Amino acid sequence: APPVNPALSSQLKELSESEGGLLDRRMFFDPEIYKVELERVFARSWSFLCHESQLAKAGDFFSTYIGADPVVVTRQRDGSISAVLNSCRHRGMKVCRADWGNAKAFTCTYHGWSYSTDGSLVSVPREEYAYYNEIDKSKLGLLRVPQVQSYKGLVFGCFDPEAPSLVDFLGDMTYYLDILLDRVDGGTEVISGVHKWKMRGNWKLAAEQFSGDNYHTISSHISVLLSEFPPEAADAFVNIDGLEINPAEGHGIGVMYSPTGAPFSAGSSEAILRWRDETRQESINRLGKERVEGMSWTHANVFPNFSYLHDSSVLRVWMPKSPTEMEAWSWCIVDKKAPQEVKNAWRTQAIRHFSPGGTWEQDDGENWSYCSGAGGQEGVVTRLSKLHVEMGVGHERSHPTLPGKVSHTYSEQNQRSLYRRWAEFMAAESWKDISVPVRTTEVIDRSDMAKAGES
Ligand code: FES
Ligand code: FE
Repeated sequence: APPVNPALSSQLKELSESEGGLLDRRMFFDPEIYKVELERVFARSWSFLCHESQLAKAGDFFSTYIGADPVVVTRQRDGSISAVLNSCRHRGMKVCRADWGNAKAFTCTYHGWSYSTDGSLVSVPREEYAYYNEIDKSKLGLLRVPQVQSYKGLVFGCFDPEAPSLVDFLGDMTYYLDILLDRVDGGTEVISGVHKWKMRGNWKLAAEQFSGDNYHTISSHISVLLSEFPPEAADAFVNIDGLEINPAEGHGIGVMYSPTGAPFSAGSSEAILRWRDETRQESINRLGKERVEGMSWTHANVFPNFSYLHDSSVLRVWMPKSPTEMEAWSWCIVDKKAPQEVKNAWRTQAIRHFSPGGTWEQDDGENWSYCSGAGGQEGVVTRLSKLHVEMGVGHERSHPTLPGKVSHTYSEQNQRSLYRRWAEFMAAESWKDISVPVRTTEVIDRSDMAKAGES
């Protein structure tokens, strides 16, 4: 029923009819939209699963999710990586309840059906008496994730066999991912252990922030800046120069230019700074000066929910848990060949800033919680008022050397791109209706890195 107050009524009508640059809040709490999202976004898109270094030996496995679907990713004996749905074909018990480990087989603890690590059903207890040897085990393997591919150590999976290859899906995002993954010979690895914590808030709020929201730093994180950095560094941060870059629809990255190294160096330990100096020339040889020296710190999101921070060494997945709840999964990624002292420094830095108890992290979680879930968005009047996402509209431009559209560091072009891509997935009947990014840069294949584990 419409509100009784005529002035309010016309104001709300105006709001709910505005077009362009405004977001409908229902996408942050509506259970029906959430259900469609799991199907049309997560069951179709490539999703980050784990780092190859977590699957060093045959039988190593890691349990995770694609959207809300539990999957277990495993290194096979032939060196390839495969992923299967972590749900027994008998009654749906989780066949692997460990977070990670090494297994020869996955044996369901309920009635004992046993699956090989590639998902084939290999044995059923008391098969002769229980099933009169009439059960067709070949048809009852764990459901497989049909596409599993890696990009320079990062393993992704996709439930949709029609989806384009991972590198096609990433498009020119690979050019920027290389800043994190391809700086030095040997690539990267993750430090053992994954932080996981639950938060109120819809997953898209975290993804959009990592894709392009440098704007919040100067308000949300001002207390951290002032308490952790010298005053001139905090000042430099507020007046930071940088770019928000949209390399392909849906993916976003923000880079900050800090020719002097401040304020980023202020937050890094001596060991990390020394390592950067020692490897600078090698990195320039691999990536060129602009990506090594010009892009001192980056935040990014790969559509839909895989984020990372370069030089804070953090990988993130924002797991959807309900329309208004997400679970953050956080890895610490380091250069594989770096000395142990440097790896320890990165780990300490990541924990101090971006972990459940991290100084920066807590500011962000608080915001997302009140933007959806705890903020009363479902209220009859609140849900009708739309959200403004127009910062920098019309000021996106191409760049002489960098692929993608670029904007000033304070811009919402990447958030708009993420929501346009989301809307494209939500409206599409199949991958035939979804565009594939046009690639303008080449993928540099390194023989010194682990090869893609395809299944
Ligand atoms: Fe797995 Fe019965 S549920 S064997
Ligand atoms: Fe933040």
